[in-house]
Amino acid sequence: MHRLWTLKEFPFHPEKLLHHETIFCVGNGYLSTRASFEEGYPKQVPATLVHGIYNHAPGALVPELVNAPNWLPINIRIDGTLFQLITEAIDFLHPAKGALLGYQRTLDMESGVLRREVLFRAKTGSIVRLVFERFASLHDQHVLAQRVQIFVIDGNPEIIVESSIDGDVDNNGYKHWGDFNVEAADNMISIGAKTQQSGYRIGMASKVKASGKLRAKAHGLQPTISTKFTLQPQETATIDKITTIYTSRDTEEPLADAKQKVSEAAKKGYDTLLVKHRAEWRKYWDSSDIQVDGDEEAQIALRFVMYHILIAAPRNDDRVSIGAKTLSGFGYKGHVFWDTELFILPTLTLTQPTIARNLLMYRYHNLSGARNKARANGYEGALFPWESADTGEETTPQWSDPQPDGTRIRIWTGDSEQHIATDIAYAVLQYWHWTGDDEFLRKNGAEIFLDTAVFWGSRAEAKNGRYEISQQIGPDEYHENIDNSVFVNRMVVWHLQSAFNLLNWLKNNAASDCERLVQQLNLTPQRLDHWRDIIAKMYIPFDEQKQIHVQFPGFFDLEYIPVPLYEPRTMSVQAILGHHRTIKTQVIKQADVVALMALLWDELGVSHQVKLNNWNTYYPRTDHGSSLSPAMHTWVASKLGLDETAYEMFQHAAEIDLKDNKGNVRDGIHGAACGGLIQAVLFGFCGLYINAQGKLETEPRLPAHWKQVSFKVYYRGKRRSFTIKNPVAVPPSE
Ligand code: BGC
Repeated sequence: MHRLWTLKEFPFHPEKLLHHETIFCVGNGYLSTRASFEEGYPKQVPATLVHGIYNHAPGALVPELVNAPNWLPINIRIDGTLFQLITEAIDFLHPAKGALLGYQRTLDMESGVLRREVLFRAKTGSIVRLVFERFASLHDQHVLAQRVQIFVIDGNPEIIVESSIDGDVDNNGYKHWGDFNVEAADNMISIGAKTQQSGYRIGMASKVKASGKLRAKAHGLQPTISTKFTLQPQETATIDKITTIYTSRDTEEPLADAKQKVSEAAKKGYDTLLVKHRAEWRKYWDSSDIQVDGDEEAQIALRFVMYHILIAAPRNDDRVSIGAKTLSGFGYKGHVFWDTELFILPTLTLTQPTIARNLLMYRYHNLSGARNKARANGYEGALFPWESADTGEETTPQWSDPQPDGTRIRIWTGDSEQHIATDIAYAVLQYWHWTGDDEFLRKNGAEIFLDTAVFWGSRAEAKNGRYEISQQIGPDEYHENIDNSVFVNRMVVWHLQSAFNLLNWLKNNAASDCERLVQQLNLTPQRLDHWRDIIAKMYIPFDEQKQIHVQFPGFFDLEYIPVPLYEPRTMSVQAILGHHRTIKTQVIKQADVVALMALLWDELGVSHQVKLNNWNTYYPRTDHGSSLSPAMHTWVASKLGLDETAYEMFQHAAEIDLKDNKGNVRDGIHGAACGGLIQAVLFGFCGLYINAQGKLETEPRLPAHWKQVSFKVYYRGKRRSFTIKNPVAVPPSE
């Protein structure tokens, strides 16, 4: 069973270097570190990204999450031969640079430990087996641990080990850090630095335990501890390197705290730190593991996506959130999108509710940015930014990077993808329904929900005897600045209707909070009447004859291109046709009407036949050009009883990061695809929902070959275990 917890690379795949750097990432909800090698490798992209540390480089359009100093470097010389993975054409007898004889790397997702074993021959002929291990402690988020073991197979080599922290780091060439303070003394090396524009300070310190005399030296920006010793045949040496990290987001004195912590942690030692780290992971998995019997690939994929959500999820900080690419790469500059609330958050709401609350509090603390955005656009209430960083102000760039022909494309999402206001509100209500966390709702959630409703009240346009909403981008971003996106208009109706339910609840259960919010948000009777009017008269584009929702009026006048004709393909249809042409076609980037069905399902108030018609209309037009798309299609296909397609889409979603089927995993994990996969299983295949009487129910449609699925969720503070057998569901056992 153990291997269903393990991701493995065997043998070394240099051509997948950057893909593997991303998927083998370690992290602990405070930071993540890409799986770059201790000894380095040409063109590798080492990165440690720490939640909340953004910086705006001069000339850049927007701020980005900053690459922290690299804590990984450990260089090893065996009889003078520098250990590295590059080998020349291998001449086993006379290797000039040494020879790599064996390689295997595993990520144990059960305990968050990355391990690499290599067999290496030095030019003198000495052969060693090297085992590298690392983890980012889940027990103490400021502690990072590495161990290297050297086993002598042949020869009696002299070993030199140099361990450093590297402050000379960049984000795609740009160096964000300045004001360095590099020190080395008494077997301790450290680096302090400050981001140049935002002024965040960082402090990191390392200590090493190894044979030989340890010498610490401050070379430039790479303080190093080195040691030298000789090993006999069959002898083993162990080198432990413990590193600590603090930023000015945690403490006034990050460098001093890092130094103090490293002494404490090094005293405990690697083994003790590992025991505590594993114990924390056990707790995590005890709440979050989904077990699938009958499909090993699905089992691995589900653990993989959950692992990546858990290492990105801030456990002790409610002023940060999970970026679209988690903390595993530079893609989207570490910015936070709707991906978090509609794709990642539900998984946490159900299995780690305190973390889900942190993520929602991030939005609460950033309401001022959302209010600024609404006001700057001439509206009331709160309009959350499409892309958000540390300040909560809009951080979507207005222009793309230069295209192959040198031109830049205007990015409209920051202006027009306003549905994020409702997506966040949806997540607030979903969190409340599942957790029953009334306190959060009263103090924070209701304010988010109602002030985003205020925004829509001021945004809807009274036109043609009804309400319309112009200039929007729905989830399908290929069609920009359209009028009356059915996704947007219908979700707004849901938002305003739910605002009335919420106000009612507050009136009956939290009268003083209700009064406070009515005053603060100016929820006058006139405003509420206006909302009622919008609910009654909102234009919901619908084709009565075809009995389908219309994605937006005019959509079907565009050129029809059946997307399946382009199969098999590895590129999106948009990449094949180009931006300007795609915009003029009916090719849809991702679930849009399908997303509307997923989110509202029963509340949509249409028949099963209409839902099926919608599916049959939009599915063949969908490019899945966004990684968010396949999982949502799995969920909906499963609810519609389209079992084969549901499983096909499930596999597509499961492979996005594991197989790099979009070719961009080098930029980071697709966080929304990870969360989406879990939603697809829980809400789709298992059909988990809260019924009208407030009870948890399942309406399972497991893929034919799945024997059973087991999982636990928290519901209103209690943990409930489910085992769903195929085809009959067994009721909750706890
Ligand atoms: C998708 C968006 C998503 C963003 C970040 C885009 O390609 O279309 O829906 O929010 O990526 O993942």
